[in-house]
Amino acid sequence: MFSAAVRRSTEGRHRDAERATFLGDLVGGKLPLAGYAGMVAQHHHIYAVLEEAAAVMRTDPVAGAFVHDGLTRLPALEADLVALLGPGWRDQAPASAATLRYADRLREVCFDWPGGFVAHHYTRYLGDLSGGQYIASAVRKGYGTTATSFYVFDGIGSPAQFKTHYREALDAAPWSADERRRIVDEVLIAYELNIAVLEDLGREFSAGQAA
Ligand code: HEM
Repeated sequence: MFSAAVRRSTEGRHRDAERATFLGDLVGGKLPLAGYAGMVAQHHHIYAVLEEAAAVMRTDPVAGAFVHDGLTRLPALEADLVALLGPGWRDQAPASAATLRYADRLREVCFDWPGGFVAHHYTRYLGDLSGGQYIASAVRKGYGTTATSFYVFDGIGSPAQFKTHYREALDAAPWSADERRRIVDEVLIAYELNIAVLEDLGREFSAGQAA
């Protein structure tokens, strides 16, 4: 099963992402609220490109099966940023160097390579529907903020069932063995890019990390 192969081939990098100092500090309630806001701002830069690609890929015969309106995060990110930083949030939320690299990669592979789009789509949305749910409840408890609508997926039904269907779609896609390998490689790149974004955030907001 391709879905199981993707998961297996990337679980080491998932562990590294999960263990990022910044995320540990975030869920441990150790950051200033500005640290959480900083992460939401980076997500905004990333999802702006990912969801622009989704608008293009929704008519693709293969990648289109993964695009779902209920996943769209950009309006939720904007609402969270208004709540966290106020109406002038755009001026207070610049992309970090790692976020710019991530956005560049998305532009490079998500607009004319359906498998590349799915690799990045999978890494973000399945993560948001998994560990993301845990992060959201930790943020609500630890920071007393409800600006967590990014993690609320009202339009997809049960997240567990959605993930099951998503994995079935990965298994059903007509990719050759070679294409499947390329997609796994791109998921690994997606994890690297996410880890780098978390490292930038850690340098800015986690105590004890060199600036
Ligand atoms: C606090 C940090 C995190 C925790 C506790 C966490 C936890 C989890 C758990 C428990 C699952 C399995 C869910 C299931 O099988 O239904 C999962 C899946 C996943 N996570 Fe994370 N995660 C974290 C961070 C991340 C990050 C930073 C990313 C990438 C940006 C990510 C991407 C994914 C993906 C793509 C899956 C789906 C794997 C698959 O079943 O194919 N996670 N996560």
